Amino acid sequence: MAEILRQGNVWHLRNGSVSYALAVLPGGVVAHLYFGPRLARVSADNLLKHAGLPGAEGFAVQEFGLSRLPQEYPSFGLGDLRAGALTVEAPDGTLAVDLRATGAEVLPGKPGPEGLPATFGEDAQTLRLELKDAHTGLVAELFYSIFDDCAAVARSVRLTNAGAEALTLTRAFSLCLDLPDADWDFITLSGAWARERAVVRRPLVPGEQGTSTRSGASSLQTSPFLALARPGADEDRGDVIGAALVYSGNFAATASVDQFGTTRALLGINDQDFAWRLEPGESFRTPEAALVFSGNGIGGMSRAFHALWLDHLLPPRWARAPRPVLLNSWEAAYFDFDADRLVAIAEAAKRAGVELFVMDDGWFGRRDDDTTSLGDWEPNLGKLPGGLGALADRVRALGLQFGLWMEPEMVSPKSELFRAHPDWCIHIRGRESIEFRHQLILDLSRPEVQDFIVDAVSRTLRESGAAYLKWDMNRNFSNIGSAALPRERQRELPHRYMLGLYAVLARLTKAFPDVLFEGCASGGGRFDAGMLAYVPQIWCSDDTDCLERCRIQYGTTLVFPPSAMGSHVSAVPNHQTDRVTPLESRFAVALGGSFGYELDPRRLSDAEQAALRVQTDFARRTQALRLTGRLYRLCSPFTGNDAAWVTVSEDRSRALFTLVRARAVPNTPPRLVRLRGLDPARSYRIDETGEVFGGDELMQVGLCCPLPMGDAASLLYALEAVDD
Ligand code: GLA
Repeated sequence: MAEILRQGNVWHLRNGSVSYALAVLPGGVVAHLYFGPRLARVSADNLLKHAGLPGAEGFAVQEFGLSRLPQEYPSFGLGDLRAGALTVEAPDGTLAVDLRATGAEVLPGKPGPEGLPATFGEDAQTLRLELKDAHTGLVAELFYSIFDDCAAVARSVRLTNAGAEALTLTRAFSLCLDLPDADWDFITLSGAWARERAVVRRPLVPGEQGTSTRSGASSLQTSPFLALARPGADEDRGDVIGAALVYSGNFAATASVDQFGTTRALLGINDQDFAWRLEPGESFRTPEAALVFSGNGIGGMSRAFHALWLDHLLPPRWARAPRPVLLNSWEAAYFDFDADRLVAIAEAAKRAGVELFVMDDGWFGRRDDDTTSLGDWEPNLGKLPGGLGALADRVRALGLQFGLWMEPEMVSPKSELFRAHPDWCIHIRGRESIEFRHQLILDLSRPEVQDFIVDAVSRTLRESGAAYLKWDMNRNFSNIGSAALPRERQRELPHRYMLGLYAVLARLTKAFPDVLFEGCASGGGRFDAGMLAYVPQIWCSDDTDCLERCRIQYGTTLVFPPSAMGSHVSAVPNHQTDRVTPLESRFAVALGGSFGYELDPRRLSDAEQAALRVQTDFARRTQALRLTGRLYRLCSPFTGNDAAWVTVSEDRSRALFTLVRARAVPNTPPRLVRLRGLDPARSYRIDETGEVFGGDELMQVGLCCPLPMGDAASLLYALEAVDD
């Protein structure tokens, strides 16, 4: 049960697993008291005493200064020497803002997201604290929501100019979390194209550490997430706090250790290229940040995030729904196709048991390579005589669903769209625009551009009757300027772009609720909770090599559920690494996400094609378990030669175990892997071997894994609980 309790000046949000507490101190400063496992009761005086601070009655900003006070939403300029969450330029050009509480209320459920993606939940309870800066008239409303069933708290802030003159926000973060000590390891994700989301863990040190992006997207290079783990915490044990931003644009995630050895974590829109002008009466809403707490290690943190996203963020129509086994044409044909070739691939896919055929890039305008035609979303009739409908009908006649690729946010300088609307792209007048992949970004802050995209995508979906759309986004921001914004609002563009994108996605997903949208950004370059509010799955990486994928998927599942990761079996030698790996291992790894293929089945041997039929059948049978079960990571490919994980159904009656060994090691005994998440009191039968083991045995002693020899060898076991 989610509840919000008030005792004097203390607010205490609590459910079955976590507590979050804060205090409105005399004078109105809001202090952070606690986030962690559920507490029976909270006392501001006691918690402040533990922190070596004067009791609530004795606190005064003047005498003591804010530098030692754990705070909820600290601002710059009042004597707190740590980095703040808020910086505001007052009409006189100064930056100090002194927010004092003026009111508080408890709201049932969650207030609307106001154009931003956010968690939802009728079972939630929300605390709204209102603070005001008397000097400028700035009002800050702090929202805290707690859910019945998740070890999570969702936070966001609304800033309103209730003064008489314009203000400018130059930093408006979503989350500040002050913790009383620095005995934490700091975990972030870092990456690059084809190497997304590697786990980085290091002890906190004095000073500021963190990760951020200014590429315009949550990016290939990092992820809008941070975790603080107690030094001994591993996958199963120890306290871990995770924070993720429900946002797809530029962000900063930092943790700072101050002079007194306390830690401040901050998360929000990156302020490097951000400023937001608030005219009198205008409001700004920060993206939402979700905080989770786990007493069961990093694995527990991940499962808390997964449950939060699946039950309170993803489109409910898709969150736990089966996903069709798909075959995507990209690595099968690249730009080199016509309707007959696609239909021939689709026929072979159908024979393999695939359910959805996806035509990737190259079907529109004059696009035979990546130099042209983005924005001209009319089918290339040379390649597809009869247009989209005719091709889609041929695919459907085979008994397959039809899906296709678009990159709606982009324009090629070589396109009709660019010729007609040269100022619709992000650019700085008078400066030469920098092209990446020969393309420019449409200015989604403009309503007419949003309408154009909604029309183009709607027409494409209607004409093709597509059941699936891969929504790609393949470049970073540069030359950031909008022809439609006045001088004083140019630095609003990156965030206005995101608001425009979310508006477009909201309109399209509402109009086409049964179309399965898959996000993509040069692979996993915009893999975040913001996108997942609209698209239930995201292409995890352009790297389809199964060993690379073990790492990429391991890192991705730190925050995101397996069902959110598009994951495909591709051909060998692999197109990104040139590595040859066994088909069974590529299959076992691709099963770790939303499963599909990225190859031309006609180029496989008869035996391999027969194997595909077995695979697609297995993928379908294990789908509910794989996509909605609880994930336990068992061996990390970042620290050893093996990657292993097990997914356990919610009722613990079924499990799917996967082990992949990168390099063959001669003369080693079979690996013993201790499973997790099973029912210790039940026995489990391994489908592939017929052996039966106790759940306790499998978790305490381990499962003996006779891996075949050879590099990239794997083992895939389906377990089912049996009566003894
Ligand atoms: C990006 C995507 C790929 C593919 C190509 C098409 O790189 O990540 O999967 O769709 O674009 O150009």
